[in-house]
Amino acid sequence: MQAIVLVGGEGTRLRPLTYGTPKPMVPILGVPFLARTVERLYKAGIRDVIFPAGYLPQPILDYFGDGSRFDMRFTYVIEESPLGTAGALKNVERYITGAFFVLNGDILTSLDLRAMLAAHQARGGIGTLHLIHVADPSAFGCVAHDANGRIEAFIEKPAPGTAPTDEINAGTYLLEPEVLAAIPAGRPVSIERETFPALISGERPLYAFTTSDYWLDLGRPEAYLAAHRDILAGTMPLVLEPGISGAGSAALRGHPGVAQPVHADEGVVVAPTARIGPNVVLGAGTHVGERALIRDSVLWDGVIVGDDVRIEESIVASRTRIGARATVGSGSVIGHDVVIESGRTLEPGARVGAQTAMR
Ligand code: GTP
Repeated sequence: MQAIVLVGGEGTRLRPLTYGTPKPMVPILGVPFLARTVERLYKAGIRDVIFPAGYLPQPILDYFGDGSRFDMRFTYVIEESPLGTAGALKNVERYITGAFFVLNGDILTSLDLRAMLAAHQARGGIGTLHLIHVADPSAFGCVAHDANGRIEAFIEKPAPGTAPTDEINAGTYLLEPEVLAAIPAGRPVSIERETFPALISGERPLYAFTTSDYWLDLGRPEAYLAAHRDILAGTMPLVLEPGISGAGSAALRGHPGVAQPVHADEGVVVAPTARIGPNVVLGAGTHVGERALIRDSVLWDGVIVGDDVRIEESIVASRTRIGARATVGSGSVIGHDVVIESGRTLEPGARVGAQTAMR
């Protein structure tokens, strides 16, 4: 069994994090997000993975290599210009030998790929799409199907209150090679907007596989923070010590200013009067100064937080320095290697960092 993992998107909604780090390499508790996806594929018995890439591919290649470190085989196909979610599949057609999984590279889910494969084989459609129920489908691609699971319609981002179903496309597909024949070559094609809607009028059905798994699209900063909150709370099943976790957890154990759950990687140093948590992740080598307050935030590796700094509901990328008495307002996203001057106040929702993509 093969899998194609789409990793070529620019991740515009996660900027400025994605100016220096491609979205699949954005860390979840210190480990690139894509490594979690690769682990899930391995557990499902999949060893052959193809990565259609394009935007900032080098960090992905450097980390994952040919796959031998993971006891797997990885093939990369770099797009000169973005081909879209279906164009990217067409572009790797020569490597495909049978039915294959397609995974969006930015989905955190507990979906059981083996169960999905069994459902696909039992029904024999041209493809099977993972769907999940959401409370508000208006921001997603809704998928309507009949009682047998045969997909009848795709409704992209319906106006609030008008969606015919609360089931949405969850970004994992199992497709027969014939699907590739239906994708035009040499131009950008969207699988959600073009390929799937065209396939439902064909003879072989496209089936829904609806589950109630944990599911989160990590593409937005709020979702990225929510993912960490869920992992720390144990809602998203990932093996973790409850309360205080991580290789640097010794810096937080017994600390009077810690509110659980919190996570610290190696080499974290926290001043005795700092207050950390709840829902805080401190990346490797992060230093936190006296009386600093950090809650509901994720700091990547090597971040330096000065005395009396306040950080709430924000993301701070690698090696950034936040000067004494600075305030980082809720919903801020600070890129890597940024210096925030002492005493500065970042308004809620601030975006600070390099302003150019390094393609
Ligand atoms: P935004 O710019 O924030 O929308 O993020 P994105 O560029 O990653 O787009 P989106 O979240 O819609 O993409 C879903 C998945 O498809 C992600 O895993 C992307 O990496 C991937 N993807 C999107 N467009 C392309 C493309 O043109 N080529 C390849 N190879 N992958 C893509």
